[in-house]
Amino acid sequence: MQYETLGNTDVEVSRVGLGLWNISGGSDWEKTDEDQAVKTIHAAHDAGVNFFDTAEAYGDGYSEEVLGKTLDSLDRDDVVVASKVSPDNLAYDDLKASCEASLDRLSTDYIDVYYVHYQNPEIPISETMRALKELQEEGRIRVLAVSNTGPADLKATLEAGRVEANQVPYNLLWRAIEHEVAGGCRESNVDLVAYSPLAQGLLTGEYDAIEEYPTGRMRTRHFSRDRLEARHSETGTERETFETIERIRDLCEEYDRDMVEVALAWPLHQPRVTSVLAGASSPEHARANAAAADVSLSEDLLADLDDATSDLKATLGPNPDPWQSDSRYN
Ligand SMILES: NC(=O)c1ccc[n+]([C@@H]2O[C@H](COP(=O)([O-])OP(=O)(O)OC[C@H]3O[C@@H](n4cnc5c(N)ncnc54)[C@H](OP(=O)(O)O)[C@@H]3O)[C@@H](O)[C@H]2O)c1
Repeated sequence: MQYETLGNTDVEVSRVGLGLWNISGGSDWEKTDEDQAVKTIHAAHDAGVNFFDTAEAYGDGYSEEVLGKTLDSLDRDDVVVASKVSPDNLAYDDLKASCEASLDRLSTDYIDVYYVHYQNPEIPISETMRALKELQEEGRIRVLAVSNTGPADLKATLEAGRVEANQVPYNLLWRAIEHEVAGGCRESNVDLVAYSPLAQGLLTGEYDAIEEYPTGRMRTRHFSRDRLEARHSETGTERETFETIERIRDLCEEYDRDMVEVALAWPLHQPRVTSVLAGASSPEHARANAAAADVSLSEDLLADLDDATSDLKATLGPNPDPWQSDSRYN
C-alpha cells in the first residue's frame, strides 16, 4: 500500500480508501449485514487501507455505527476516520449537534477528516466554518474538508477558513471535474479525493449491457431521466456509456490488465488526486481494491484511456454534478 499526506497536514492516508456508503442500503445498494461489513473493514485494514469514508447520511447513521464497532479492535491512531455533515445541518448549532452525534455513532473522541457533504446556499459558509473551526480547536476534528464543491464556493470557503480536500466524483466515465473543479482545487492548493472510482460498479467489467446493471443505481446523468431513480431532466448517454465501457474493456485486454485495477489506478495518475475511495461490501473486493494502490499505468495506456473516454466526457458536458441537471456545484 502507498500512502500520501492529505493536503498541508500530518495526516497520511492510503491511496486507496474504503467507501462505506454502499454497505448502507437504500435505492442504490443492497444493505450489507453488520458482520459482513465489519469483516470487509478488517480485510481492507489488513491490506493496508487506513482511510475509511462514511457520512451521517449513509443509512441514517448505520455506516458510521458499523465503522465505530470496528474501531475498538483497530489501533485508533493508525486509522483515518472521515465523515461528512449533511447540507441541511450546516447552521452553527445544527453542525455542532451533527458532529457530536457522528462522534457518538463512531464511538470515538475525534474525527480525522470532516467534510461538508454539499454546500447549502441558504446558510452562510462563514457560519459553517465558525462551527467547524471551533470543533477543530476543541480537538473533535483534525482536518476540515469539503465535498461536491465548485470553484466559486471553494473560494468563499477558503476566505472563511482553511480546508485541505475536496471529495468529488471522478472516474473514467465521469471526468466532468476536469473542466473547472480540478483546476480550482489545484490553484487553491486543495487536494482531490476521488469518489465512485468504479462508477458505482460500471467499471468492474461485470456489466456488458445496460439490462444487467441494477435499476436502482441508474441515477446518474449517464442514464435516461425515464429511469425510476433518476432525478435529472436529461436523455442520458446510455449508448455512449456502454460503448465507452467496451472500449476500456478492450484496452484492458490489449494491455493484459485487470479492469478494476486500471479503473482505480487511473484517478491516482491524475494531478493532485490523493486517494480514491472504493466502495466494497466483501473482504475479497476490499483486498482486490487495495492492491490497485501499487499499480502503475504506462504513458501509452493512459493516452489510450484518454482517447477512449474523451467523447463521453464531451457528451456529458461540464456539469460536475452526476445526479442533477441543475448543478449543486458553484
Ligand atoms: N461525497 C459524496 O457525495 C459521495 C458520493 C458517492 C460516493 N462517495 C464515497 O465514495 C465511495 C465509493 O463510491 P460508490 O460506492 O458510489 O461507488 P464505487 O466505489 O465506484 O463502486 C462500488 C461498487 O463497485 C463494486 N465493487 C467494488 N470493488 C469491486 C471489485 N474488486 N470487483 C467487483 N466489483 C467491485 C461494489 O460491489 P460490492 O458491494 O459487491 O463490493 C459496488 O457495487 C462511497 O462508499 C462513499 O464513501 C461519496
